Amino acid sequence: MSKYGVAIRGIGVSIPEHIVWNDDLTGLVETSDEWITSRTGFKARRVVSGDQLVTDLAIESAKNALAYAGMQGEDIDLIIVASSTPDYIYPAACGVVQQGIGALKAFGFDMMMGCSGLIYALSTAVQFIENGTAKNALVIGADTHSRYTDWYDRNTCVLFGDGAGAFIISRHEKAGETDVLAVDFMLDGARGQEIKLPVNRDNCPLTTPRQNIEKSAIYMNGREVFKFAVGEVPRLMAETVKKAGLTPQEIDYYVLHQANARIMTAMAERMDIREEQMIVNLEHYGNTSAASIPLALYDALMSGQIKTGNTLVLCGFGAGLAVSTAVMKWNCVDHRTDAAPATLQTKSLEVV
Ligand code: UT7
Repeated sequence: MSKYGVAIRGIGVSIPEHIVWNDDLTGLVETSDEWITSRTGFKARRVVSGDQLVTDLAIESAKNALAYAGMQGEDIDLIIVASSTPDYIYPAACGVVQQGIGALKAFGFDMMMGCSGLIYALSTAVQFIENGTAKNALVIGADTHSRYTDWYDRNTCVLFGDGAGAFIISRHEKAGETDVLAVDFMLDGARGQEIKLPVNRDNCPLTTPRQNIEKSAIYMNGREVFKFAVGEVPRLMAETVKKAGLTPQEIDYYVLHQANARIMTAMAERMDIREEQMIVNLEHYGNTSAASIPLALYDALMSGQIKTGNTLVLCGFGAGLAVSTAVMKWNCVDHRTDAAPATLQTKSLEVV
């Protein structure tokens, strides 16, 4: 039995300015706008430039989430950053965020679970709140896969984009109430090699000829991961809805990791979900890994598609191979006093 319930208090996002369109990639690899659009749904992706860091995006998303929640950095006592594309292996990104937002009393850690990282981080923060260890937690999903992509591999370079998204969750003010109704996970390490970002283990010049030094870049067996996602994700989502004590009819929207439009269509068919219940914004950002769920949710909130009181299923899937789901009530109040910012989608469409 949990000591406390959890309230979702804020959401914030951050994307780099620089846009890479599908056509920009045809100069690098043998591909086409038609192939990328029809196979993935992606039209554009944002990528960091110059010395912009994943923690810069993380900090901006955190500040935006604090503004949404009407809170200050000093209110935060736990920071979890989900990222598989760190600026540094150490120090951990949570410490950089701590300094960036002035959450000087907060403790924290990073989590490396690929595209399911954000929900793993969120559900970990939920437990810290439920058992009383933390009162206000900041959970960030931030990735800059552009830094780890082989831009001459057409199998991967057309897929990923950079971005960050943050949630703030707090101890619920009303005893016995909670916005996070259920969480669940699955992990199949036997299929772990289907997406990988290897660390260079043969880096000793005394033992390894220069030409044999392994390159560190993303590898993905797209077809296998596709099959995994369409097979496992609907099953786990259905189980998590049941665990929350709900029926599928009581779910308003599904906010899934934005990996591929065809994956979403296949899942919707399998689960008998109406097209408009599936939140899709991937055409603007590509696959932003741990950031994709808050980016999609934020866009749907700003466009008015998702409203206060809606019941949501959030689901991340990918490297591991792993899946993570959460069922939640969206009761979060936007405390920002300035005119509501344009949706991110509108922002990118303006450039078209
Ligand atoms: O975020 C983590 C979770 N990720 C996912 O869930 C991603 C899951 N997988 C996918 O989304 C899809 O498998 C991809 C979008 C990655 C690939 O689509 P696909 O329909 O599975 O294509 P494929 O890998 O089976 O490749 C089909 C063909 C191949 O050519 P051949 O062997 O048939 O001659 C590829 O070489 O398409 C070729 N190809 C391309 N052609 C043009 C692969 N990439 C490209 C490209 N442009 N960029």
